[in-house]
Amino acid sequence: MKPKITVIGSLNMDLTATSVKRPMAGETILGERFETFPGGKGANQAVAASRLGAEVTMIGMVGQDPFGNELMHVLHQEGVRTDHIGRADTSSGVAVIQVVDGDNSITVIPGANFALTPSSIEVKREVIAASDIVLIQLEIPMETVLAAARCCKEANVPYILNPAPAQQLPLEVIEQAAWITPNESEAAVLFDDTEKALKEYADKLVITKGEDGVIYSGGHVEAFPVQPVDTTGAGDTFNAALAFQLASGSALSEACSYANAAAALQIVSHGAQAGMPLHDEVISFLRQNGQNPL
Ligand code: RIB
Repeated sequence: MKPKITVIGSLNMDLTATSVKRPMAGETILGERFETFPGGKGANQAVAASRLGAEVTMIGMVGQDPFGNELMHVLHQEGVRTDHIGRADTSSGVAVIQVVDGDNSITVIPGANFALTPSSIEVKREVIAASDIVLIQLEIPMETVLAAARCCKEANVPYILNPAPAQQLPLEVIEQAAWITPNESEAAVLFDDTEKALKEYADKLVITKGEDGVIYSGGHVEAFPVQPVDTTGAGDTFNAALAFQLASGSALSEACSYANAAAALQIVSHGAQAGMPLHDEVISFLRQNGQNPL
């Protein structure tokens, strides 16, 4: 049976400039390439989970503009249910992304994503209740994140909180999460003492450390060494793959290994969604790297 994953989050159009260096304040440089890609942490996670084989529903908001049309079209083509994505009377979310040496810096202008209100989540209770797992990130208003967390709790559905971009959170949102997946800098924003937090939230707090892999209380799962082309969407691929495996009943260590493999495959392409792998590709990659797949 396909795991049912609901993603509550953002959809953005990514405007990506690739250059050999980052301009300093007041400096103009010539870049190498400019591309537009569908993105947004929520939409990326939805696409990644769908490619892996989950039945995915997205709850979010786009604008009534050409970017909104394109973002909806791409999700639909990827097999994601889009009938719970609303249309706000404003522009769609946009991310301005600079890629240098495969690594990115991102400025997000939330636009329609910030029109996703708590009440627009509360009316989706039945969708949430029908899910095996819910994925939530932080490119939507915090009161909406809180409403989503409460709906999951009421419906007894576990959620993964991917606290990106980093910001402080109501304790309730942390306490009620089944898993929390910050990277190292996000963890530093959330917790005064990361080591203490790892113990306090054992088996719940999973910290991603890029090429150093993933840690959780008592566990370290190695990353796979690959030369990145563009790391945009790596965290989203990791979270989607983690959700896919946890919803399928895998143990945390196996789910992290699978998620690391999915992220490694994703970062060797330009753009967030283009390189997101299929389940069979993740399994082959794990075998090629001497791992015993699930
Ligand atoms: O996680 C990557 C995503 O962050 C990009 O697609 C961009 O839209 C920003 O939301």
